[in-house]
Amino acid sequence: MIILLTGGAGFIGSSLAKQLLEEGHRVICLDNLDSYYDPDIKWRNVQETLNDPEYHFHEGDIRDSELIDTLFQNYAFDAVVHLAARAGVRPSVQDPGLYYDVNVNGTLTVLQAMQRWQVKKMVFASSSSVYGDSQQVPFLETDTADRPLSPYAASKRAAELLCHTFHHLYGFDIFCLRFFTVYGPRQRPEMAISQFTDSILNGRPITVFGDGSTSRDYTYVEDIVNGIIQSLENLKGYEVLNIGGSDPISLADLIHVIERAVGETARINRLPMQPGDVQLTYADIAKASQLIGYQPSVRIEEGIRRFVEWYRSRLNYSLATEEY
Ligand SMILES: NC(=O)c1ccc[n+]([C@@H]2O[C@H](COP(=O)([O-])OP(=O)(O)OC[C@H]3O[C@@H](n4cnc5c(N)ncnc54)[C@H](O)[C@@H]3O)[C@@H](O)[C@H]2O)c1
Repeated sequence: MIILLTGGAGFIGSSLAKQLLEEGHRVICLDNLDSYYDPDIKWRNVQETLNDPEYHFHEGDIRDSELIDTLFQNYAFDAVVHLAARAGVRPSVQDPGLYYDVNVNGTLTVLQAMQRWQVKKMVFASSSSVYGDSQQVPFLETDTADRPLSPYAASKRAAELLCHTFHHLYGFDIFCLRFFTVYGPRQRPEMAISQFTDSILNGRPITVFGDGSTSRDYTYVEDIVNGIIQSLENLKGYEVLNIGGSDPISLADLIHVIERAVGETARINRLPMQPGDVQLTYADIAKASQLIGYQPSVRIEEGIRRFVEWYRSRLNYSLATEEY
C-alpha cells in the first residue's frame, strides 16, 4: 500500500512508519514538526527511515490544503493514517483555539482532500479521553462520549464525528481508534513516564498530581502500531475501536514499576489534580479483538523495562522539557 501518514515524525507515527516499511508498504509522511515539544526529537525520530527509498518526508501543515493536494497529485495513496494533532490534555485547557484548529479543522482539511482525490480509506487517531470521567468500566465503544473534560478530548470527539459524516456522505471506510495512554521508546517528553524516568535518573523529585490513586490503562507503542496496521488491513465501514492495554495501573503503582526498572527510589513533590484530568481509563477491547484481531502483548513491567533501557541508551541528551 501507499500510505499518507500525517504526524509521522511524532512518537507513535515514527514507530508506525518503521513497521509499515518493514512490512513492504510505501510511506509518505506529512508533519510540520510543531513546537509542542523539541522538533529536534522529531528529526531524530525520522532519521532511521529517511534513507529508505520507500519513505518520503514532507514538512508541512495538515491545514494547508494546497500542499495536501500536491501530495495527492504526486502519489496514488491507498489510505491515510491520520495521526497529526496537537496532543496533550492539560495544555489544551490553556489554548483551546489552537487545539480545535489543528485537531478539528486540520482533520476536515485532510478529509476534504481525500474526497477531492477519491481516496476513501482512513485510520484516525482518537483518544480514550473522549470518555470523560466515565465511572462505568471498562469503557465500551457504545458508552456515551458526550461529556469531554478538556478541549483536547472535545476536539478528538468532534473529529470522530466528522469522520462519520464523510463515511455517511461519501462512503469512506474509516476506523477511529481510541488510543489509551501510549508509552514506550520515543514517548513524548512531557508525558508522565518520560518525566518520571528522567527525574529519577537525574536525582530530581518527580511531580505527582493528586494522591496517586488515579489509574491509566497504559498501552505499549508496539501494540498501538499493531492495532493501526490490523485496522488498515480490515478497513470497512465506519467503526470506533478501543486500542488499549486493558490492564489499568494506579499512578502510585506505576511509580513503583519505574523505580524498580531504574533501580532508584523516587522523591515525590505532590500537587493537586489538574483540571481536565480524569480519574480512570480502562479499555474494553472485545470489539477490536473481534474485528481486527487486536490483542495487546506487552505488559507494563516489560514495557517500562524496555522504555528505561531505551532511555538510558539516549541519555546523552535530555528529554525533559516543561512540566505540566
Ligand atoms: N500518546 C498517547 O498517549 C496518545 C493517546 C491517545 C491519542 N493519541 C493521538 O495519537 C496521535 C499521535 O500522538 P503522539 O503521542 O505520537 O504525539 P506526537 O506529538 O509525538 O505526534 C504528533 C505529530 O503531529 C505533528 N503535528 C502537529 N500538528 C501538526 C500539523 N498542524 N500539521 C502537521 N503535523 C502536525 C507533530 O509535529 C507531531 O510530530 C495524536 O493524534 C494523538 O492525539 C496519542
